[in-house]
Amino acid sequence: MCGITGYVGQGDAVPIALANLKRLEYRGYDSSGVAYPLADRVHVHKAVGKIANLERSINGGMHNLTSNVAVAHTRWATHGRPNEANAHPHCDCTGRIAVVHNGIVENYAELRSELQEAGHIFNSETDTEVIAHLIEAALPSVSPTSEEFVQACRIALKKVSGSFAVGIVSALIPDSLFVSRKDSPLVIGLGEEENFLASDIPAVMSFTRKVIVLEDGDCALITSKSVRIFDLDGNPLNRSILDVTWDDQSAEKGGFDHFMLKEINEEPRTVRDTLRGRITEDSRVVLPDVNFTSEQWNRIRRISIVACGTAYHAGLVGKRLLEKTLKRPVDATVASEFRYSDPLVDEETLVLLISQSGETADTLAAMREARRKRAATLAIVNVVGSTLAREADAVLYTQAGPEIGVASTKAYLAQLTALSLLSIYLSQDHGLAEEERIKMISALRVLPDQVNDILSQCDQIHDLALRLRDHNCFFYLGRGYDYAASMEAALKMKEISYIHAEAYAAGEMKHGPLALVEPSVAVIGFCTQPHTNEKMISNLKEVKAREGFVVALLREDVPAPDCADAVISVPVTLEPFMPILSMVPMQLLAYYVAKEKGCSIDQPRNLAKSVTVE
Ligand code: M6R
Repeated sequence: MCGITGYVGQGDAVPIALANLKRLEYRGYDSSGVAYPLADRVHVHKAVGKIANLERSINGGMHNLTSNVAVAHTRWATHGRPNEANAHPHCDCTGRIAVVHNGIVENYAELRSELQEAGHIFNSETDTEVIAHLIEAALPSVSPTSEEFVQACRIALKKVSGSFAVGIVSALIPDSLFVSRKDSPLVIGLGEEENFLASDIPAVMSFTRKVIVLEDGDCALITSKSVRIFDLDGNPLNRSILDVTWDDQSAEKGGFDHFMLKEINEEPRTVRDTLRGRITEDSRVVLPDVNFTSEQWNRIRRISIVACGTAYHAGLVGKRLLEKTLKRPVDATVASEFRYSDPLVDEETLVLLISQSGETADTLAAMREARRKRAATLAIVNVVGSTLAREADAVLYTQAGPEIGVASTKAYLAQLTALSLLSIYLSQDHGLAEEERIKMISALRVLPDQVNDILSQCDQIHDLALRLRDHNCFFYLGRGYDYAASMEAALKMKEISYIHAEAYAAGEMKHGPLALVEPSVAVIGFCTQPHTNEKMISNLKEVKAREGFVVALLREDVPAPDCADAVISVPVTLEPFMPILSMVPMQLLAYYVAKEKGCSIDQPRNLAKSVTVE
């Protein structure tokens, strides 16, 4: 999710690496840094904010030395605040090794304390810094050769659990870059007498169109003239060269037509990253980043969820889930209502604020109101260092990475994943049966693959969008969890396709809205909750009888009802987690309908990504 670039060749490496890094800057990173080897150490420059700040600090200083090798990084904070100390690259104690990293070192706390016990001094709060110290620890104490350095990198990375894409420069390999990846993308751009490193293909496209896409577990030693690829045990590997034919604009979007589609396709990784490091081997949830004491947790008698838009819809699912597991009252309110309602919250209330940006004005005001009333505040936030994250008593980060499309997609899945973890965390020692907990954890673990399976149905959803694009009204119906999910599905459709879309509790249709149903109306029925399925099907029959176009969203183990004009089926998971799966085809459906109508998908009219005013 962060951006990495690197260069090795005959040119001046720092400006080249930074020019390439700038091609990733539109994603809104918080800090950047660069490192290059010179004489017997690595030189590092860092700055908070835009890459221009880093350039100014390099050019304004006395740093006019040049190098032919460099790695650079632009950070989207995951561990530690966005500041200079936490910006990459991170070095070992001797200042001979510098590492840039994208991903999450799950076992960093354990590795860090082992390294500290062995005398290593840390300069940041990041998980990344352990990698530099692990390499240092694996080096022979006298005059390591470049081969011994490579071996030390391999030994170090084998100790890391989690995900990584790393670029490493060292005074011990002054003409080379060491790189490796696991579960986080990394590519090598091939030039004439020069080679490039990047987390994303667009970063190297002004220099080369020939790239090697590294695979999980790959390492490479890159010089200006050669690229040697091998695995973490040192066995040589062959990787083919890809010719990139994208234009610049589609390259930014990873080859997708829109950021929204790119971000939907990032959902398996988003769910995986949000779960990462938070589930133990014995199927318990740990939330190391939520720093409430057990006394603070024990004081809580009720929970109030507060958020806006998509985040509020995630909160509606969370309300049901938390009530089910905790057996305590939970309510969910939109922030703009909460803040002026003189809310009934006190020291025994946990106010749970959900936000992708962490900057939504109403959500911030709601948090301040809750704090004024002495409630405990916990923020589920995507952007590290955002105002909400800084001001709330505790933070549970989602790990969606930068979301550029105004329509929130992967952030919703990350919020639901975080809420699922929270509900298990709060109840695992307070009434949640072990058997139930294990069932929930097993279901969470397979969700990323299930999301992937749904993404592979995108052509069918596109076909359905072609049948639906001329309908002038959409109803989304559901019961229970499905009702909560249907509200988000309706929001997606209306905000990007400009078609009127409304969610209704299915049982309410016959109390009024059924009067609107006619052939131009499409009705999407969420039927993923077995105990209400029969009722749902009979509601859909009522729609069919009025000639509405009926789409049934079903679990794949349920046969298609006769009344359905079309069916979307999703894999089976536990009922509270069904919204995580059912939202993926709904986002795709909204996307394709909007695309067919020629709408401005990533920047819908009248909307902003982050609503920082009332
Ligand atoms: O950054 P936040 O999660 O606080 O933003 C809340 C809403 O503004 C946001 O979810 C909005 O509704 C999106 N456009 C929905 O796609």
